[in-house]
Amino acid sequence: MAKVVVTGKIPAGGLARLKAEHDVTAWEKDDAISRADLLTMVAGADAIVSLLTEKIDDELLDAAGSQLKSVSNVAVGYNNIDVPACEKRGVLVTNTPGVLTEATADIAMSLILMVTRRLGEGERVIRAQEPWQWGMFYMLGMGLQGRQLGIVGMGQIGIATARRAKAFGMNIAYTRRSPLEDNVVNELDAKYMSMDELIESSDVLSLHCPYSPATHHLMSENQFARMKKTAFLINTARGPIVNEQALVDALKAGEIAGAGLDVFENEPAVNPGLLELDNAVLIPHLGSATVETRAAMADIAATNALAILAGAQAPNLVTS
Ligand code: GLV
Repeated sequence: MAKVVVTGKIPAGGLARLKAEHDVTAWEKDDAISRADLLTMVAGADAIVSLLTEKIDDELLDAAGSQLKSVSNVAVGYNNIDVPACEKRGVLVTNTPGVLTEATADIAMSLILMVTRRLGEGERVIRAQEPWQWGMFYMLGMGLQGRQLGIVGMGQIGIATARRAKAFGMNIAYTRRSPLEDNVVNELDAKYMSMDELIESSDVLSLHCPYSPATHHLMSENQFARMKKTAFLINTARGPIVNEQALVDALKAGEIAGAGLDVFENEPAVNPGLLELDNAVLIPHLGSATVETRAAMADIAATNALAILAGAQAPNLVTS
């Protein structure tokens, strides 16, 4: 029996599979584990099953010890893990791709609709019991039909978002490092553009790239200045891809029309400037937050950890 440390609450199915084969120590409280508790808890672990709120770095790997074989993130994004540091020690890293694609695309599409049709703003009027009345020019938004959705990072989630947007009548443009499969290009009638072209021509720009040093503040002053004044930014990827202060400034200055954000630069903190803006829709990192998706994520993380502990090939290995 190996020692498996699960750093936060995860759905029962995945946890039960780990417990059936190994000695599991799991953080059972609703609140995220503190760093000090985490460093104590991982000591002697053969496998760690981590949440995206836990930083897996040299300090933590030292605290775990040299017997550690794997870190299985219960997330598709793994920017909380120092993958090169793990690789140096021979610790394998896995993530949970695939199962959260549709849930996250649903949230991206929801944000597109919310921000272009001013739904957060409208709901606030009703809840605040402010006077209102139907009016020909009251709270007009932007229609999506015939507008361009620019997808930055046309991977699984980007493609799933594009499918939804196409059903709403949007035209799809994208940027991505490697060529997109012909069948997807044809299905979506998707147009490849350089990042610059995409920024300048899109009516809605939706971020779906991973976060890394290369994508840190990919969207900053310069990019906002080049977007259409009528355009909207959507972020369901990772907060620090956007320079949040530059976004606040751009929204205040009317350089862009609005933003829909599921992720923030310093989660769970939110730039106070965003809170004052009616044209920012703000939701608390709910991309994969459905009962079904979270259960599937825990199950995949368990599959990965169990495979590595059994000396088998893990299905979702990631490398630097
Ligand atoms: C969620 O943000 C994830 O990366 O799974």
